[in-house]
Amino acid sequence: MNDKHQEVKEYYGQTLQKSEDLKTNACCTIEAPPKHIRNILKDVHDEVKDKYYGCGLTLPYDLKGMKILDLGSGSGRDCFIASKLVGQEGFVVGVDMTDEQLEVANKHIDYHTEKFGYAYANVKFLKGNIDHLDLLDLEPESFDIIISNCVINLAVDKQKVLADAHRLLKPGGEMYFSDVYSDRRIPMTLQKDPVLWGECLSGALYWNDFLTFSKKAGFTDPRSIENHPITIENAEVQDKVGDIKFFSVTYRLWKLEGLDSDCEDYGQSVRYKGTIEGKSSSFDLDDHHNFPCGKMMTVCGNTFKMLKETRFAKHFEFFGNWDTHYGIFEGCGGNMPFSEGGEDGACC
Ligand SMILES: C[S@@+](CC[C@H](N)C(=O)[O-])C[C@H]1O[C@@H](n2cnc3c(N)ncnc32)[C@H](O)[C@@H]1O
Repeated sequence: MNDKHQEVKEYYGQTLQKSEDLKTNACCTIEAPPKHIRNILKDVHDEVKDKYYGCGLTLPYDLKGMKILDLGSGSGRDCFIASKLVGQEGFVVGVDMTDEQLEVANKHIDYHTEKFGYAYANVKFLKGNIDHLDLLDLEPESFDIIISNCVINLAVDKQKVLADAHRLLKPGGEMYFSDVYSDRRIPMTLQKDPVLWGECLSGALYWNDFLTFSKKAGFTDPRSIENHPITIENAEVQDKVGDIKFFSVTYRLWKLEGLDSDCEDYGQSVRYKGTIEGKSSSFDLDDHHNFPCGKMMTVCGNTFKMLKETRFAKHFEFFGNWDTHYGIFEGCGGNMPFSEGGEDGACC
């Protein structure tokens, strides 16, 4: 455990007692959760919700029966929501290194098991450091989905976290997570500031470094789902960070063999059946792939694989093969930079 880990444990164990104690709105979720999540949130214990410090929506669709790992699960809010979504036959594991956060999460396991009408708990919390996931007793290729909400920016070795996550995912599994990113590399002087780091700002990855790290870890084609500029709303902190811009972004990273580094055209198409629960009229794979029910859509080879070799396969019809390459695929989006168009939002 290095100094940074110690500082973060103190920040989330002692300095912060509830969401309102945050000094900035970096660890706040701007977008409103969809209706099915809002309904589940009514059943999540208030003490768990009071200690929520996430910055995005980390729960994708179609989770029934899934085995999920949450990196930096905090007081357990996303794990308890996931517990409901995966159903009795699924399972959720949360990992966090801060005793005070784990205590709240563990205290409320029975409460949620009963609320959701389960015969036995389908969630557990482990004490562990996500910088050292390899030291935890977690089976390689044993998780369908890895989620994380505003935590990887706090990790010291982000490249290793991504590589370990890749190792723990089953083939066809995905890492679906929200975090804070910056428009440039953060100067070392700011990285040394424990409050800026604890507030999820100075540990933020420059978005282009994140893409490089992801690809190196084996996640060849990172897909962004949603992004929002972060308005810091604290004059002192704003003065320290100067012109650096921060964004909260949700990404999905697929563990799939044979993805191309660019979107390539094999003349393939897919048709969405409208069968994903809660998404009968259309389904968004990411922020530039919307599939209306029943409409034939041409896709690049990577998108074809993301649908055909994952849990989404049963919800689509697939047309075409890999016999003929027609060149680069036009219209699959390009390099990142995030939109700076502001949206004000209520904290958490
Ligand atoms: C911003 S909070 C987010 C918590 C939770 N995901 C949520 O949405 O409420 C960060 C959490 O990550 C945990 N954390 C930070 N760095 C960690 C690490 N290296 N290993 C394990 N947990 C870590 C902290 O203890 C804290 O609970």
